[in-house]
Amino acid sequence: MAPTRVGIIGTGTIANSHATALRGYPGGQIVAVFDVLGDRARDYAEKWNVPTVCGSLDELLARGYVDAVIVCTPPFAHAEPTMKALEAGKHVLCEKPFALDPHEAERMVRTAERAGKFLACASGRNRCSAAQRKAHAMMASGELGDVYHVRWSRWRFRGRPGHHIFPESAWFLDQRRAGGGAMMDIAVYQIDTVLWLLGNPRVTSVMASMRQITEEPPAGGVKQDVEDHVVIMVSCEGGKSGIIETAWVANVKGADGFFVFGTKAGLRFDPLTKITAVPVDESSGLQRMPWMGGESFRSIEEQVLLAPDNYSDDFGSITQQFVDGVAAGRQPYTPGRDALEVTRIIDAAYRSVRSGAMVALA
Ligand SMILES: NC(=O)c1ccc[n+]([C@@H]2O[C@H](COP(=O)([O-])OP(=O)(O)OC[C@H]3O[C@@H](n4cnc5c(N)ncnc54)[C@H](O)[C@@H]3O)[C@@H](O)[C@H]2O)c1
Repeated sequence: MAPTRVGIIGTGTIANSHATALRGYPGGQIVAVFDVLGDRARDYAEKWNVPTVCGSLDELLARGYVDAVIVCTPPFAHAEPTMKALEAGKHVLCEKPFALDPHEAERMVRTAERAGKFLACASGRNRCSAAQRKAHAMMASGELGDVYHVRWSRWRFRGRPGHHIFPESAWFLDQRRAGGGAMMDIAVYQIDTVLWLLGNPRVTSVMASMRQITEEPPAGGVKQDVEDHVVIMVSCEGGKSGIIETAWVANVKGADGFFVFGTKAGLRFDPLTKITAVPVDESSGLQRMPWMGGESFRSIEEQVLLAPDNYSDDFGSITQQFVDGVAAGRQPYTPGRDALEVTRIIDAAYRSVRSGAMVALA
């Protein structure tokens, strides 16, 4: 199969991860780049041996040999290049967060459908990990029974972008350009995965809580008007639910946890472990306490994957499955429609915080 020829739009930090993923990968090659900062595009092209540096987005999109583009700009600049690329006949992998709001997301999805091109969002990055793929296969096969709840808590001790990490990318802290804080940066991945592992049920309501850790403002007088800390509860049809917690800054360690609750079995991540209940065999000599009623159970824990879950190592997999999907005519992760759903939930979470109440979704 011929490799997918890729154009990169925006050549900052994450564009380097996509290039790393495609370095030596037979399924795709970067053939052209564009960045509003021409020097950055030229440095990137030199570093990654890209033959063509374009002076404008239109120039890149006019190159007929570019099959697909990866949009690696900050969130405020996702929608325009994505829609223009689709209209120019290119498949698109858009970095997360997909869009600033559901209206923008809807327009992006409609443009892809009109153009008949694949639109994917990197919010599905974690779906590519070995642990999540295995968990999803176990859910889809029915091995876990009905999966009715997924809970993912993922904390950074000190990991605020534009401050502790990526100090040159202060846009992460600016509502207007980023669309939000830890929600748009981290929770977006968790929402994507939680819904996916629940089997993408219809979401009926969202309740959220957030705060900014103003006690520790970013250094150098950089302005921050986005949240550091996010808690979201998602309710879905069929009594399914998800709880998502994350933060850029938290004075805790060891509180990470990722669990899937099924009616037949559950899963604990890192390393992926299946947990089932079995009736206790009385002949085993187990002493029953007087307050114990009928049958009693014990748990069996079976480690499903030997290696610990590692989302950093799996970082580039989204790029590889995108170029492979394009070449094979198979929709890559996260499909635009799923990304639109994630955007709707994010929007509902912000509305819940503003109103202090649960937000129902139609
Ligand atoms: N940094 C990370 O670890 C990381 C991880 C995953 C996803 N992302 C996502 O990737 C996107 C980019 O993040 P980043 O960290 O690479 O940012 P960055 O600031 O390092 O790079 C962004 C680049 O986009 C360029 N740019 C801005 N507007 C543009 C436009 N209209 N057209 C072309 N180029 C434009 C900038 O000049 C800059 O070079 C964001 O949506 C972010 O959420 C970042």
